[in-house]
Amino acid sequence: MDLTKRPLEHELDPIELATRDQIAAVQTRRMAWSLRHAYENVPHFRAKCDAHGVHPRDFKDLSDLARFPFTTKQDLRETYPFNSFAVPMSEVVRIHASSGTTGKPTVVGYTRADIDMWATVMARSIRAAGGRHNSRVLVSYGYGLFTGGLGAHYGAEKLGATVIPMSGGQTEKQVQLIKDFEPDIIMVTPSYMLVIADEMERQGMDPRDCSLRIGIFGAEPWTGQMRGALETRLGIDAIDIYGLSEVIGPGVAQECIESKDGLHIWEDHFYPEIIDPETGAVLPDGELGELVFTSLTKEAMPVIRYRTRDLTRLMPGTARSMRRMGKITGRSDDMLIIRGVNVFPTQIEEMILKDARLSPHYQIEVTRENHLDHVTVNVETRPGLADESARDAAARDLQHHIKSFIGISTRVKVVEDGGIERSMGKAKRVVDLRPKS
Ligand code: DLL
Repeated sequence: MDLTKRPLEHELDPIELATRDQIAAVQTRRMAWSLRHAYENVPHFRAKCDAHGVHPRDFKDLSDLARFPFTTKQDLRETYPFNSFAVPMSEVVRIHASSGTTGKPTVVGYTRADIDMWATVMARSIRAAGGRHNSRVLVSYGYGLFTGGLGAHYGAEKLGATVIPMSGGQTEKQVQLIKDFEPDIIMVTPSYMLVIADEMERQGMDPRDCSLRIGIFGAEPWTGQMRGALETRLGIDAIDIYGLSEVIGPGVAQECIESKDGLHIWEDHFYPEIIDPETGAVLPDGELGELVFTSLTKEAMPVIRYRTRDLTRLMPGTARSMRRMGKITGRSDDMLIIRGVNVFPTQIEEMILKDARLSPHYQIEVTRENHLDHVTVNVETRPGLADESARDAAARDLQHHIKSFIGISTRVKVVEDGGIERSMGKAKRVVDLRPKS
């Protein structure tokens, strides 16, 4: 552990150094509140608890949480757009959204206190990654309905750092701003960081000579090998940040610069469990399974036992007393993350089925070219559409619809009736040709 990079004790939130007993006491008190708050104010959750035969008064200690029902993306779909909110709309000051499994996004809401809590955990995250009040932070996560940009922005401001709210895209301009404004921290997806590094080289600059010292990378899976590649190429410390919209956004868990040994979960606000994705049984710390979160302080949209579908394991604290999670090793559903945008194959299917010229036989191919993920949708026409120009027109329309409704650029190939291989059992909808590490 490189203690020279560790924040001084007085710079940390006191809870970051609390004992396990102190943390458990805070969690128990807050959990009782959160369960009651959700039960009393979210009819969908109340109905699920009633059907499950469990009531918030049954919660006495943390082990009782396992008696409560899970919340899934499907639940959030059923309450679209605002029926999972536990406060009146007049108290909601912000909305964000992420991909649903089909056309409708998952909507999340925040009260003023939620935004402040989020800024607090993000400030804590940036500090854990080595940021300080005198840091200059280039935020290259997208601003908008995606939580990355604004989440990073509020956290860096709360820390007292200087924020450069660049957002994603416009790679040449990213490099220009790095040259001119000399940020020492960049917050961006790791795949886009590589594209920025390529652009630096294209402009004749050695990426190691730039002002950046720390990269806070997340929103998509990345490996230890990728850390090595980024650190060597840019001469930076590459630190992992994790989060998801349903739980708050980025800042649910964060790696510390002094240890780089997994991500500390900010357990005073987000209570983690690992479950067996098949049976739903809670697994002991150390075992690989699906990560589940219960929010402990969120007002606008409390989530109880939210199934993230992310696979990882829980480990004891090191640089902080809160538990760590390992890097995400995969997902228990088929969600793809394409340049930071979450995409479900079912969303693409929905677009295909809306077009009378296309058949439901399709396959999605994911490849990696120049560090970026590319998606090709291969789809068959309905019988009778043999004319090539008609197929090209259908391809153009589908490409356009996917771009405008899902937000990703794709290549679409419309092939003749019978052109896509039929499966003998479960259709293989996604062919992932990206290198594994
Ligand atoms: O991606 C929030 C975020 C923004 C996190 C910026 C970090 C940095 P969603 O769009 O709701 O929210 O997507 C959440 O992205 O369930 C994971 O599958 C994946 N993910 C996020 N961070 C990581 C990470 C944001 N560090 C989904 N490693 C999550 C692996 C990650 N996967």
